[in-house]
Amino acid sequence: MSIRDVLVTGGAGYIGSHLVDALVGRGYRVTVLDNLEPQVHRSGVWPSYANPKATYVKGDVRDRAVFEPLVLASQAVVHFGAAVSVGQSMYQIDRYVDVNTRGTALLLDILVNTKHKVEKVIVASSIGVYGEGAYVCATHGLVAPRIRAEGQLAARDWEQRCPQCHEHVASVPTPEEKALYRDNIYSMTKYHQEEMVLLIGKTYGIPAVAPRFFNVYGPRQSLSNPYAGVAAIWLSRLMNGKPPVVFEDGGQLRDFVSIHDVVDCLVLMLEKSGADYLPVNVGSGETITILDIARLLQRLLGSSIEAQVTETGRKFDIRHNTADISRARETLGYAPRVTLDQGFAELIEWAKTTPDVAVDFFDRALKELQEKGLLVQ
Ligand SMILES: NC(=O)c1ccc[n+]([C@@H]2O[C@H](COP(=O)([O-])OP(=O)(O)OC[C@H]3O[C@@H](n4cnc5c(N)ncnc54)[C@H](O)[C@@H]3O)[C@@H](O)[C@H]2O)c1
Ligand SMILES: [Zn+2]
Repeated sequence: MSIRDVLVTGGAGYIGSHLVDALVGRGYRVTVLDNLEPQVHRSGVWPSYANPKATYVKGDVRDRAVFEPLVLASQAVVHFGAAVSVGQSMYQIDRYVDVNTRGTALLLDILVNTKHKVEKVIVASSIGVYGEGAYVCATHGLVAPRIRAEGQLAARDWEQRCPQCHEHVASVPTPEEKALYRDNIYSMTKYHQEEMVLLIGKTYGIPAVAPRFFNVYGPRQSLSNPYAGVAAIWLSRLMNGKPPVVFEDGGQLRDFVSIHDVVDCLVLMLEKSGADYLPVNVGSGETITILDIARLLQRLLGSSIEAQVTETGRKFDIRHNTADISRARETLGYAPRVTLDQGFAELIEWAKTTPDVAVDFFDRALKELQEKGLLVQ
């Protein structure tokens, strides 16, 4: 049998909707299950970009009555429906575990206890499962430090230290084999989702892949959601005449990957078997500091507003994490092609056309972090 019907949970969201477009373009029959989570879809209706050739079902991934028939009608399930903010997960614990972990448990329960036709499951995992990225110590070689202690953040000693000799260590691209440490509730749920799907996939012979997304950016990213990705938050700030707020000294290294490269990789995961039963890093393979991302946005916008570097840490933040994308290259033939300049120019052009950008809730979200004691002053 070959795959014809694909169910995309969270398919009204940012990554999911781009994947829906690509799948429809390739001739798949696509059904979207999405509850139009108000924090993401403020209007409460299907977004204007929703591909008219897909079928849309409004419903929750925790609701078996809705989820089960859709799974049974599909040969592939892409499970993206999730609550997605790291900071918010640290004070909405019940909601994050319920939507992410239990929603995935329900999907697996359906697969194991019905006569289904599913030949592929793709579950969205995250860079968050690593905690800190990989590092090299001059004396001890490759090391995997834990998140920095509050005292280190308070001393503004931002760089990671070797777990053995406590000297500073240098960041290197993170391979999938690095030890996984979860440092916030969102990442714990992503870890559970990934582990559960890969385990049940292996046990029952259902090919499963867990893309570990790094920092995905591009059109349709929520610009008004203060819990979304940093690039969107800063772009929205700049376009509202306010400075991007940069935690620590801005030297944090990340991998920003264009949505188009992400979609290419997801299609390869669906159509090829090379990465079956594996977690796979999905990044660009390029490394950049977050302060340089703020500056890139400022330059491309022609804005004179400088980033505000707070020299303040957040308790749940990691210092560096960049992607080693060898596995995706070798098992799937993945080859990212969008440069940061191209990708961010596209994001900005799109942002100028969306009313979403006029709303900036960042200050409120920052206040929540302060009130919950998650900022280290
Ligand atoms: N954007 C990134 O950089 C990034 C990084 C790592 C992992 N991810 C993962 O990728 C997936 C997609 O993320 P995104 O950036 O497109 O987020 P998004 O918020 O734009 O999309 C998520 C979608 O899921 C829907 N949803 C939320 N709760 C639901 C529920 N209970 N039932 C049904 N639908 C529900 C929302 O309405 C939304 O349309 C998520 O699982 C996220 O954890 C994203
Ligand atoms: Zn050492």
